[in-house]
Amino acid sequence: MRILNLSMECYPVAKVGGLADVVGALPKYLNRIDGVESAVIMPWYNKPFVHQHQFETVFTGFIRQKNQLLEIEISKEQSQLLGFDLYLIKIPGLLDRDQPYGYWDESQQFLAFQHGILHWLSEMKIRPDVLHCHDYHTGLVPFMIENCPEFSFLKGIKTIGTIHNGEYQGDMSWEMADYLPWFEGGNWGLLDWNGRINPLAAMLKCCHAFNAVSKGYMTELFDQLRGLESLVQHEHRKAFGILNGIDTGVWNPETDHYLDFHYNKETASEGKRKNKAALCAAYGLDPKLPLFSFIGRFAGEKGADLLPEIVANSIRETFGGLNVMILGSGDQDVENQLLHLNQVFSNFALDLGYKEDLSHKIYAGSDFLLMPSRVEPCGLNQMYAMRYGTVPIVRYTGGLRDTVRDVSVGGGGVTFGSATANDAVHAMHRAMHIYNHDGLMGQLVQTNMSYDFSWEKSAMEYLKLYAD
Ligand code: ADP
Ligand code: GLC
Repeated sequence: MRILNLSMECYPVAKVGGLADVVGALPKYLNRIDGVESAVIMPWYNKPFVHQHQFETVFTGFIRQKNQLLEIEISKEQSQLLGFDLYLIKIPGLLDRDQPYGYWDESQQFLAFQHGILHWLSEMKIRPDVLHCHDYHTGLVPFMIENCPEFSFLKGIKTIGTIHNGEYQGDMSWEMADYLPWFEGGNWGLLDWNGRINPLAAMLKCCHAFNAVSKGYMTELFDQLRGLESLVQHEHRKAFGILNGIDTGVWNPETDHYLDFHYNKETASEGKRKNKAALCAAYGLDPKLPLFSFIGRFAGEKGADLLPEIVANSIRETFGGLNVMILGSGDQDVENQLLHLNQVFSNFALDLGYKEDLSHKIYAGSDFLLMPSRVEPCGLNQMYAMRYGTVPIVRYTGGLRDTVRDVSVGGGGVTFGSATANDAVHAMHRAMHIYNHDGLMGQLVQTNMSYDFSWEKSAMEYLKLYAD
């Protein structure tokens, strides 16, 4: 079975968040199964990976977008070291940028991405059996295949849609219809949701099956999907929940090349202590105090707006008895507030920006990882934390609910109910008790490190979805 993943991100080429980690791992694990060939196509970005690796051009052609002819070039990575075939699509002016997101013309950018890929596939002799579309950026592919005469050769190819984050749907005005490949006018309703073209809605309507990245999140989508709830209910037969795995090859404290000190379950106590000491030394924190960290995008769904209050209240209420460290960027107001707190509290370390190496050091060197998410479709951070023997403190929602069990019911984490600074700080107080309780902290480290979140099981679930 041949599967092609369509995604805006893929680790290690270009990563903004968990989507990259998933697309960089799932195909690798699927390819270990006999008879399965899973590949990835993503945009060409002006990124180090692209310049440091060899690519061969495998296709060139043109697509028409509105009244413009766009040149497309598809190239294939040559090293074979990723564990899957990687294709990049380049379209000068649209798909040759520094970053995946944040451009004024992104609707046009995503449309060209989808159109270009389908044009290439139409010209291919041996085509994939399944197109796996990740998030709304590729959500119009199932519609285009079935309704655009230009792609009639592709009819019948199975399309699977994965919702990594339903908060983003990519809706655009109907004026943008001119930028789509020509389609039978009578089918416009498949694109429409509330008077706008909605790629996520079109994906749910037109794909063969779709899934959310955890069962818990899938259940929530029936009641809460930014206006698409009734659509999910209507399409419920096609809906599945498949929990993300983690790439245990990349995320392994025993071999992780970003870490100064390696460790495993047996040597965790010493290994974590050394990593923590190095991290604390680098940021001027007292390593004797418990270290609570947050890594992530400063966005409402991550509860990032709660962070300033969490930092200030937790440090004040414990009279400086804990350290907090934050790595991330995003909302300007949150950044400014945190910068201010960084001047006020010596127990608080802040690193603004995206730093892959530092994130690994934080997972290894922290005692607790805080996730006050309002919405968390799966969340990978808590699984990385557990793999590195760090206790997750999470709001009980979506994928966090499916992966973290509270210490009170025999799990290795601390959970809390509502996305408020109060609840989060209360959970941190509970965590302090664990930290100060002789033996309990070490026990939780062991519990967390013994969980298996690897991709094997979830890869089989995807395979079943592709095959059914
Ligand atoms: P999301 O995709 O919603 O951002 P996930 O928990 O699925 O959330 O994945 C986030 C991924 O991005 C993890 O690999 C995390 O370590 C990484 N990450 C997030 N912010 C940063 C940052 N500022 N620096 C380095 N890595 C980050
Ligand atoms: C999204 C979600 C996150 C999930 C990731 C990978 O970015 O916000 O919860 O882990 O996709 O599926």
